[in-house]
Amino acid sequence: MNHPSMQGTAALNVPAWVKNQKLVAWVAEIAALTKPERIHWCDGSQEEYDQLCEQMVAAGTLKRLNPAKRKNSFLALSDPSDVARVEDRTFICADKKEDAGPTNNWIAPAEMRQTLNGLFDGCMRGRTLYVVPFSMGPLGSPIAHIGVELSDSPYVAVNMRIMTRMGKAVYDVLGTDGDFVPCVHTVGKPLAAGEKDVPWPCNPTKYIVHFPQTREIWSFGSGYGGNALLGKKCFALRIASTMGRDEGWLAEHMLILGVTSPEGRKYHVAAAFPSACGKTNFAMLIPPKGFEGWKVTTIGDDIAWIKPGQDGRLYAINPEAGYFGVAPGTSEKTNFNAMATLKENVIFTNVALTDDGDVWWEGMTKEAPAHLVDWQGRDWTPEIAKATGAKAAHPNARFTAPAAQCPSIDENWDNPAGVPIDAFIFGGRRSTTVPLVTEARNWTEGVYMAATMGSETTAAAAGQQGVVRRDPFAMLPFCGYNMSDYFGHWLDLGKKLEAAGAKLPKIYCVNWFRKDADGSFVWPGFGENMRVLSWMIDRVEGKGQGAEHVFGTSPRYEDLNWNGVDFSPAQFAQVTSIDTDAWKQELVLHDELFTQLKHNLPQSLAETRSALGKRLEG
Ligand code: OXD
Ligand code: MN
Repeated sequence: MNHPSMQGTAALNVPAWVKNQKLVAWVAEIAALTKPERIHWCDGSQEEYDQLCEQMVAAGTLKRLNPAKRKNSFLALSDPSDVARVEDRTFICADKKEDAGPTNNWIAPAEMRQTLNGLFDGCMRGRTLYVVPFSMGPLGSPIAHIGVELSDSPYVAVNMRIMTRMGKAVYDVLGTDGDFVPCVHTVGKPLAAGEKDVPWPCNPTKYIVHFPQTREIWSFGSGYGGNALLGKKCFALRIASTMGRDEGWLAEHMLILGVTSPEGRKYHVAAAFPSACGKTNFAMLIPPKGFEGWKVTTIGDDIAWIKPGQDGRLYAINPEAGYFGVAPGTSEKTNFNAMATLKENVIFTNVALTDDGDVWWEGMTKEAPAHLVDWQGRDWTPEIAKATGAKAAHPNARFTAPAAQCPSIDENWDNPAGVPIDAFIFGGRRSTTVPLVTEARNWTEGVYMAATMGSETTAAAAGQQGVVRRDPFAMLPFCGYNMSDYFGHWLDLGKKLEAAGAKLPKIYCVNWFRKDADGSFVWPGFGENMRVLSWMIDRVEGKGQGAEHVFGTSPRYEDLNWNGVDFSPAQFAQVTSIDTDAWKQELVLHDELFTQLKHNLPQSLAETRSALGKRLEG
């Protein structure tokens, strides 16, 4: 079938299994604008995936890894200018600036549309437009939603097949008139007739644009991660958070895990941490010595969609189907389950290549191999690294791997009904000030803790690293609307559930990252975080002990299980102490945040701030 608006451009060639006329008309319209050479409707099959990978191997975009080491796996090296999410080029084009709020970049929708029309005109010349249908969440789940990404990047098409439920089955859910979130993506590098392509096409000009009113996403110029795999940050967080606000649910930057006690009782926890702060590790935690009989299972490692159920509890699904995890620092010691997930069917991006055709990154093994090809395709040796500081893998190098391959995958990870949440955890990366764990006294104080969370920046986003910034709910780069309204939404939801007689999940604030005077982490982290997690479970059960202080309740040394680890009361004091002066400084930063967010800031948060200040003054 061809569409009237397609004259002079590639044939639409709509497959018989595509029956949604709105989708067909939209593909025709985008093709007429972007002018691709051909259109490929992805069916999501293994054959298609294999063929696209082969095509990218031939084009130099992918390198096939040694099948004896990593079966059916590939390495992509990006352009060195295209290695992370670009927050300063990310826009929320709500009708009114106040609706985007002061933490988002805003440009009036009409002005942005004009810019995008110019940029997208002919942007796919010489390339193939891939039509990528995907479901965020189990197909047909009442919590799931459908998106369709039109992209000129085969790398995006194959990554989307791992990261989402992608392919023909989505059309069955979509039917003739189902709704979908339209996502348009281009690397922004059209090819002139006869022009040779580069392995990683991209454009120095980048725009990652969201129109929340019409629930549209437009992305120009980058082929990397959250800039290009539009189901993830753009849809599952920025657009979905606005859908959640309008429809009474939550889209959160949270892992979801299951914990089963030795008595066989199962709990579910959702935990928000900023990018590259160990969500994947926490989601795949292996209980340490001293926790025999406990089991942790993985539902999701990055995003949670959470809806109130009939019984008043909050039910969460992982909208994704794969992990787009940070590779550096991942090892059999820090995350055994992730390493086991990475044995086959993986796309690695910006890690180093070993001489025997495998991958390596900083932290994977104690000793680095004697020779590697680094993420920029240059020779790398430990000596070179010592002399120049060159990293073998980019600090934001990633793996894309199917969730189903994870040994700790939860039996309900794909359950359309989701899992009931017993506790929320919020954690930042803080070398000082914030104690190991605090339980909020109530929902409002928990929302306050999450709203005022600070964290040191990481390589996941372009820009300066290691500076403390406020990252409310770990959603600073991902909230698709005004942050104060988002706080209000959390508070309202709590109120509604409580009024209906529901028992709300407990809320915790954690910090695994306190450092000593030498700059070393004091808390061992990783599997040892189970000690904190099991205390939370005890508290959920109404059993765990703790001491109340100015911010809430924390365990005393004797309240945690220390079997199997050598961690002294003095070390415990180092990660739990509350420095009143540092906290007075911290509250000044809360005030600065609240001043920035004063439009629509919920009164109860301002009140919580002043009560906290008074308690701190003693
Ligand atoms: C991610 C991120 O890729 O948060 O998950 O940057
Ligand atoms: Mn993330």
